[in-house]
Amino acid sequence: ANDNQNLEKLTAAKAAIAFVKHNDVVGLGTGSTATLAIKELAKLMENSLKITGVPSSEATKELAISLGIPLLELGKVNAIDISIDGADEFTEQFNLIKGGGGALFREKIVASLSKKRIVVTDGSKLVEKLGAFKVPIEVNPNAENYVILKIEELKGKPVKRVKNDEVFITDNQNYIFDTDFGLINDPEKLANELNQIDGILAHGIFVNLTDIILMAKGNQITSYHK
Ligand code: A5P
Repeated sequence: ANDNQNLEKLTAAKAAIAFVKHNDVVGLGTGSTATLAIKELAKLMENSLKITGVPSSEATKELAISLGIPLLELGKVNAIDISIDGADEFTEQFNLIKGGGGALFREKIVASLSKKRIVVTDGSKLVEKLGAFKVPIEVNPNAENYVILKIEELKGKPVKRVKNDEVFITDNQNYIFDTDFGLINDPEKLANELNQIDGILAHGIFVNLTDIILMAKGNQITSYHK
């Protein structure tokens, strides 16, 4: 990411934390933009803001602990007041691709539990149609070849994610298949088809899981409200 992109991420992160209220349970996203928002939240907590966080990944959990943010365990939470997370792509129809960082499953559960879901991005994430960014799909290793066959039936081209020359393993001990579906005309349909496949824990198409998108261009915020 270049300097301008980093400035945009920070601008979006700062705009998002203005929505957080005293005593909120806050869903903490994963990735570089969410990280900036979490650091900004921690600064506010040095003054008078009190919040409890719910982390969407092991990385975010460690970050939050290092910043002294009290946490609740995702699996034990019934409701989250507000969540702040990034995205790899979004459309003005509020459809997203997430999971570039591999945290898509817990991010989806955080979003599903949240009353107000805020997505923060730099100016590069808005697209006309999803799909230039490959759709991350989290797969249980026991279903690997089965899921590959099913994804290919949907005309997807799955590539197993590798990081630093090693197979990438998620926080949930699964693989990620970054999958090329071409440009996606109907994200909801594809999401529903992927939801039918046993062995897929989660996929990175987020439909109906976002309320507000704050995108920064330079130091200007464009906000999209559902
Ligand atoms: C993590 O799994 C992803 O869903 C991130 O939210 C996404 O990759 C955005 O990351 P950046 O804020 O680093 O672009």
